[in-house]
Amino acid sequence: MRVLLTGAAGFIGSHIHRAALDAGHEVVAVDLMLAAAHGSAAVPPPGVARLDVRDPDALDARLRGIDAVCHQAAVVGAGVSALDAPAYASHNDLGTAVLLAAMARAGCRHLVLASSMVVYGEGRYLDSKGDPAEPAPRTRADLEAGRFDPLGPDGEPLTWTPIDEDAPLRPRSLYAASKAAQEHYAAAWSAATGGTVTALRYHNVYGPDMPRDTPYSGVAAIFRSALEAGDAPRVFEDGTQARDFVHVRDIAAANLAALTQPLGPFTPLNIASGQPIAIADVAATLATAHRGKPPIVTGEYRSGDVRHIVASPERARRALDFRAAITPEQGLIEFASAPLRAVAATGAPTWR
Ligand code: UD1
Repeated sequence: MRVLLTGAAGFIGSHIHRAALDAGHEVVAVDLMLAAAHGSAAVPPPGVARLDVRDPDALDARLRGIDAVCHQAAVVGAGVSALDAPAYASHNDLGTAVLLAAMARAGCRHLVLASSMVVYGEGRYLDSKGDPAEPAPRTRADLEAGRFDPLGPDGEPLTWTPIDEDAPLRPRSLYAASKAAQEHYAAAWSAATGGTVTALRYHNVYGPDMPRDTPYSGVAAIFRSALEAGDAPRVFEDGTQARDFVHVRDIAAANLAALTQPLGPFTPLNIASGQPIAIADVAATLATAHRGKPPIVTGEYRSGDVRHIVASPERARRALDFRAAITPEQGLIEFASAPLRAVAATGAPTWR
């Protein structure tokens, strides 16, 4: 099939690009080469054209004859300060809106959207009786006192349970707000045009060519960069916070499955390994495999962080027959010595 791939020069986009070509697809690969991600003088890699998804004319030219769009272009990270809001809104939301309108003009009817588990906010919890519970946001006083787990109404700690796609969206960061808005625009586009959208809610993605640590990087890159510099990974909170680490090659496989098997009008799917892991265990696995300094559990915290977020990958298995092939254990050992992508610029993303 003929696919327009946006964000094709990025960490995830470049893995999808390779996998799509290997699978015999024709790929029109584009990327803005945003300075915050690629450096100010970066040129697109071979086979990738420079394109800003906010440019309707450029999109019209590239969308001719396209069967499906795989939309990975985005400003990532969690947002370092409120000053990042226009960059998330402009690139992620205006960009998606312009793309959706261009798809309607071109008669292109299938979109695979890179979404994120961050749209859920806190994960799903049960109280001490095993009933579903809504955690109140953690207060600064709780975090300062080392009370990291959210408490139920009876004052007992809540326990996490895997979240599924029917959970309400409660974005907690600028980035999360922009991803939730992308999903809403895409769902409305699908209702208006009859097109199909599969929104892949990635969990914590890692793997070769992940960008080195920046304030916008995920924790795997931060730990890996610390080890390479001869430093100990610094584990925040008490290290038992749970995440699901999914390898970038599995993310690429999920995208190919979603491109070739359109589902209902708007279908969100968790894309995860299905094998949750504590952040302290991520640090320890990387440190051991890298033969680096053992991690330090610092008790530091970041006010915007959620405590636990773990997915149920069941729906993606049923809908797309997608199962992650790489366990976090195997993948993190490989990642401990895999190449990282040098980031030439670490400034905040611009939006004009
Ligand atoms: C991450 C990404 C988010 C992405 C999501 C799913 C970032 C900043 N966050 O969210 O954009 O959509 O995965 O792919 O890119 N931690 C440490 N030490 C550190 C840094 C972090 O222990 O040096 C801890 C944090 O406190 C947190 C956990 O590691 O408990 C995960 O942090 P991080 O990877 O930054 O964010 P996520 O919320 O998992």
